[in-house]
Amino acid sequence: MNLGVRDADVAELMDDPACDPRRLAATLRRFDTVNRLISGWGGVYRSRLRPHLASLGRPARVLALGCGGGDLVVRLARLAARDGLDVEWIGADPDSRAIAVAQERRAPGVSFRCADAATLRSEGARFDAVLSNHVLHHLSDGELRTFADESLALSDGIVVHSDILRSRLAYGLYTVGVTPFAPGTFLRTDGLRSIRRSYRTDELARALGRPWHVTPARPFRVLAVGAHA
Ligand SMILES: C[S@@+](CC[C@H](N)C(=O)[O-])C[C@H]1O[C@@H](n2cnc3c(N)ncnc32)[C@H](O)[C@@H]1O
Repeated sequence: MNLGVRDADVAELMDDPACDPRRLAATLRRFDTVNRLISGWGGVYRSRLRPHLASLGRPARVLALGCGGGDLVVRLARLAARDGLDVEWIGADPDSRAIAVAQERRAPGVSFRCADAATLRSEGARFDAVLSNHVLHHLSDGELRTFADESLALSDGIVVHSDILRSRLAYGLYTVGVTPFAPGTFLRTDGLRSIRRSYRTDELARALGRPWHVTPARPFRVLAVGAHA
């Protein structure tokens, strides 16, 4: 496997509109476990999101774009509630199958809707923070620019997009580590294809351009952070 070059041509099974709906739903549900293990959002919450939301000194609104099965939104909402922050959380995804799974989850202050960023913008929606997880590597070059621009336009504060950092070690560890979680899902095939589709830090920085600040994060993560000047 040549991981020296980003493989933007390999397609993930879950991105096929005709994929098996039961396996897709099982995959979306099991993202909960995978995200807890590898997404690193606990650190991003503590280092970036919590300080920003606390600094507002008022109730805040946060949007998660491409929220998938909704686990991350619920987890962040619980962390913020535990920290005494008053936050309305909206998880949005253009795929109604993802939103159906997300709506199985319940948490105070959290709602989900089937919408893309353009729809939210056309409604004049504004948020204090916009975030995404594992969305960037799914997008074509053109979609990436549009997604990044739309996310900035929706935020009055910070924007944080987190994704996998492509590496041989991540590929090897995932190959072994996913085994107990993979049955009945697309997690093995799509996880490995995700790594092949993912960016290295310099590649994502070039693809996004200004005003994005792209940094590596542990474990095997890349963060693209944008904010209004
Ligand atoms: C791998 S899933 C990640 C889901 C979730 N964020 C997570 O971390 O578990 C990628 C999600 O991105 C969504 N997506 C794809 N293109 C998108 C776009 N242009 N705007 C918003 N979401 C998009 C898909 O519908 C899918 O639910």
